[in-house]
Amino acid sequence: MITVFGYIGSPSADLREAVTDAVLVVGGRRHLDALNVPEERRVVLGRIGPAIEALQALPDDAKAVVIASGDPLFFGVVRRIRAAGLKVRVVPAVTSLQLAFAAVALPWDDALLVSLHGNDPEPAIDLLRSHPKVGLLTDGKHGLPQIVAATAGLGRSYVLAERLGEDDERVRVLTEEQAREITETAQPNVVLVLAHHPDDPAALGEQTAIVGGFLAVGAQP
Ligand SMILES: C[S@@+](CC[C@H](N)C(=O)[O-])C[C@H]1O[C@@H](n2cnc3c(N)ncnc32)[C@H](O)[C@@H]1O
Repeated sequence: MITVFGYIGSPSADLREAVTDAVLVVGGRRHLDALNVPEERRVVLGRIGPAIEALQALPDDAKAVVIASGDPLFFGVVRRIRAAGLKVRVVPAVTSLQLAFAAVALPWDDALLVSLHGNDPEPAIDLLRSHPKVGLLTDGKHGLPQIVAATAGLGRSYVLAERLGEDDERVRVLTEEQAREITETAQPNVVLVLAHHPDDPAALGEQTAIVGGFLAVGAQP
């Protein structure tokens, strides 16, 4: 049985127990280190391909654990693992974007969610400029400086949420000018781009019955 656990902040008791019992534990180095997974039982992500091969090579009754950041079903590893024909049980955690919206007490059911993590940012740029509430997963190449450049002159507010759930977590609300001055960010991080400061009631937005419905009806920011 392969169990995919979401992980953000500290590991749950269930995850600790599952790791103790598992013959193989797949995850990012910081997660494997935090759980003291011995070298001989760990597969460090990077590329998912070698990890999938290692999981496929296990006997059917072997217990394996995959650790994914946040919700493993939200821009996570489960799609690739299942597409390779493997069966999994999923124990989710909240996504990093949920934590970022929670940090500024903003509903996110009307937000546009974008992953720049390893993706071409171009398709997101127009939407980023027109939508009043966007949450972005970032990576080392596409992060706050590129997001600020893409939204220059719009007077947006930016929430930079670094290392959520870690001891050195940092969440900053920034004006465009302040955001432009930040060139170094701690990884991992997410960014919210808001038409209104999070403390402004206008930032609460409208609740719609359909997530993404805002775009469908073509409303203006
Ligand atoms: C491959 S995506 C995975 C998203 C994840 N499944 C989730 O639900 O948050 C990786 C990106 O998620 C974001 N992320 C994951 N963990 C984070 C954390 N603890 N703090 C801030 N951002 C995080 C970063 O933008 C990172 O580059």
